[in-house]
Amino acid sequence: MSAKIPKMSFNRGVKEEHSRMLRYELLVQWASEQWELLYPGKPFLSLWASENVGNNRARSRIKPGRKLRGKVRFEGAETLDCPYVVPISDYRLPGNAPVLDESVGAWHFKFTQEGENFGVIFASSYYEDGDKCIVAVALIPDEKEKLAVWAHYETLSNQASRYLERSQRVYIIGGESGSFKPTVDWDQVILPDALKADLRGDMEAFFNQGVGIYKQLNLAPFRKLLLVGPPGTGKTTLCAALAKLALAQKRVVVYVSGADDDGATFRKIHHALNVVTEARHPVLLIVEEIDVYLRKEDKAQILNVLDGLESPNNPKGALLVATTNYPEVIDERIAKRPGRVDRIIHIPTIQDSDQAGLMLKRYMGPQWQHDHQMVVNELIGQTGAFVREIALYARMLAAHNQETEVTLEVLKQSILSLTSQLATGYDLRPKREMGFGGALVKRKNGAEGPD
Ligand SMILES: Nc1ncnc2c1ncn2[C@@H]1O[C@H](COP(=O)(O)OP(=O)(O)O)[C@@H](O)[C@H]1O
Ligand SMILES: [Mg+2]
Repeated sequence: MSAKIPKMSFNRGVKEEHSRMLRYELLVQWASEQWELLYPGKPFLSLWASENVGNNRARSRIKPGRKLRGKVRFEGAETLDCPYVVPISDYRLPGNAPVLDESVGAWHFKFTQEGENFGVIFASSYYEDGDKCIVAVALIPDEKEKLAVWAHYETLSNQASRYLERSQRVYIIGGESGSFKPTVDWDQVILPDALKADLRGDMEAFFNQGVGIYKQLNLAPFRKLLLVGPPGTGKTTLCAALAKLALAQKRVVVYVSGADDDGATFRKIHHALNVVTEARHPVLLIVEEIDVYLRKEDKAQILNVLDGLESPNNPKGALLVATTNYPEVIDERIAKRPGRVDRIIHIPTIQDSDQAGLMLKRYMGPQWQHDHQMVVNELIGQTGAFVREIALYARMLAAHNQETEVTLEVLKQSILSLTSQLATGYDLRPKREMGFGGALVKRKNGAEGPD
């Protein structure tokens, strides 16, 4: 707290009058009194300010001594005591250590320009408008060059507050923005080898060589891949495995789902794109269930992003991998408009007995027996999710009957039971699976992803 700032003269008990004023008016009124004390008679401008100026991370990253435009140096900030500001911080868990995030407060920011000192009074506080909102104001000297300096300082704060630390975890953009560690290994994804190699090759080629090529052509290095296929074929699983590979290559991974509690809002995509732009590392951006966004009013904005009008410009490269179960939405909005996505990759149901055998082995685990091979042909044309369920159900049935092994009979029974359930149209699986294979997105900050 500042010792130099004299006690405030603002709280004179005129409460009713204050209650009719808007929060930003209160802040400006308070700030102008501070201004008079610090800079008597000096004209000022009151501005809407960026709340990120008060962000903890921005304030700790922009150090005193930092040079700004016009031979200006930032000299540091002094905390002010403002009765309308109750500082409350949020925290995020990008890795193992929590990071303090948005916060409000009041400060006197000090600058020097060729020997001359000047300052800015900034205050931000919470107000209630259905949602929790932050309002921020700044009082700056009424001079054009000072406005340019302040604009520069705000830009730095915006960048610093969005900056992502490189992490071994995937960032989730959504209601409870947290992070998780993907646990799916590349070889656990059972799909045709050529398809997997192609997708992995595309990602590597883009980050390693593609980014430079895009830049030579003066294009923002932003590549867009779309995974299309029926529910349960492994799109989410594939994304999780790609995420794990990308993290191992020291790339940042950002995950957005249209199917979480927050729904599919452009605000979410917008936030994700900002994060991608400021990341300073190559970013893999995963947007699941992209069709949901394309059905809503926000679709024009999403299409703008795909069309490149609002592409993130991350010089290290950004690869968008989007998924959808609904090819018809894609046909209309995307496939017939070349350039909206660079590649559409179809994720098929099980193609042949080899793949079916691998899938069954994977989900039978230690209970796998050679004669299970007999059912493999029945699994062609089914999805990975189907095989997982019949395997799990068979294993449970056997355990329930206190049998130590899963007989072929039990396995057949399990297939029959799920097939007839699906035939009646009564599918117990949720229509939209969320997250990397489960209720992941609903979990709290820092939750581990399910395996
Ligand atoms: N190709 C696959 N390889 C391995 N497991 C799969 C595959 N497809 C589906 N699964 C299993 O089924 C579950 C649901 O699949 P998911 O990846 O969510 O499908 P989608 O996103 O295409 O709807 C997964 O958690 C995984 O256990
Ligand atoms: Mg999915």
